[in-house]
Amino acid sequence: MNKIRWGVLSTAKIGLQSVIPALQKGEFSEVTAIASRSLPKAEVAALSLGIAKAYGSYDELLADPEVDAIYNPLPNNMHLDWNLKVMEAGKHLLCEKPLGLSVDEVEEMILTRDKYGVKAGEAFMTKSHPQWAETRERIHRGEIGNPCLVQGAFTYYNVDPRNIRNMPTMGGGGMWDIGCYCITMARFVFEEEPKRLVASLEMDKEFGTDRLGSVIMDFPTGQAHFGVSTQAALFQRMQILGDKGHLEVRIPFTPPIDQPTHIDQDNGNYLPQGITRHEYATVNQYTLMGDDFSRAIMEDKEVPVTLEDALNNTRVLTAVYRSAETGQWVDV
Ligand SMILES: NC(=O)c1ccc[n+]([C@@H]2O[C@H](COP(=O)([O-])OP(=O)(O)OC[C@H]3O[C@@H](n4cnc5c(N)ncnc54)[C@H](OP(=O)(O)O)[C@@H]3O)[C@@H](O)[C@H]2O)c1
Repeated sequence: MNKIRWGVLSTAKIGLQSVIPALQKGEFSEVTAIASRSLPKAEVAALSLGIAKAYGSYDELLADPEVDAIYNPLPNNMHLDWNLKVMEAGKHLLCEKPLGLSVDEVEEMILTRDKYGVKAGEAFMTKSHPQWAETRERIHRGEIGNPCLVQGAFTYYNVDPRNIRNMPTMGGGGMWDIGCYCITMARFVFEEEPKRLVASLEMDKEFGTDRLGSVIMDFPTGQAHFGVSTQAALFQRMQILGDKGHLEVRIPFTPPIDQPTHIDQDNGNYLPQGITRHEYATVNQYTLMGDDFSRAIMEDKEVPVTLEDALNNTRVLTAVYRSAETGQWVDV
């Protein structure tokens, strides 16, 4: 098998605009089928993206013996049911973030993965970008000393009442949508799990979803804090402070696929002449993620972001919502 044959569950925007074109550029991935609740929608998508087969139901896609793996970008509240069906159909599964909306959901997915012996993972493409592997290597080499504080921000402006992010019944809300990135990358940097956290969330009165949020997390060897908003100007940044220096990942989560990205490093002398800028060649992190996942299937290796990792992220996310109810510290 030279390439994994991917099927796509729905005509979600993220699939059409980013992930399908990226998979199509992969060395080990190809997209052979797409399904929608509406056959015409699937046909239009298939035609415009050069996908061979279009299905008018998700079940037909899962029944296709010429599909090896499914990419699932359904709304968050539909991940559980369809992930279980995908794995029960014997297909490998790459599901969008956040994988599940509760610890129980993710545990059920883990049991199902093990029962059906398929590969399954969460689509945190951010972790496939070389800028993060190198950030970790710089920390391992001691370039900033011991990391003690991670801080992050991720914001965008979206007040469309028809957008799934603004619908509580669809698993909407800023923490589920983008807080998950700040949490997973703080865990990636410390290489350990937070013990406790405190969170504050501001809810949108019309939508009933969290539109502004801040979290402080206590890790065994340091602290992380971050803020997210679905109603602030587009911005993202992550900083790692150590006792000898500082790394700033300028576009940490969705770096452009058509221009290089940067990390700034300093040794505590935060003047322009004290800062070294590291440039990363232009890459498409969705292509890298797809190929990493396809190779995990072909070579029977661990997938890039495992369900166990997703379970730990879900523990933190659910703790954020628990803490926000009372404003008190909670154990993760
Ligand atoms: N990794 C990333 O960079 C990234 C970026 C954006 C979003 N995401 C994740 O990807 C997922 C999809 O996000 P999106 O913004 O692309 O979603 P979207 O454009 O709203 O698409 C969701 C799709 O789900 C299908 N669907 C089935 N039942 C539905 C229902 N009751 N209501 C609405 N849609 C329904 C629809 O496809 P059909 O009509 O074809 O069936 C729809 O096009 C989410 O989990 C999100 O967190 C990830």
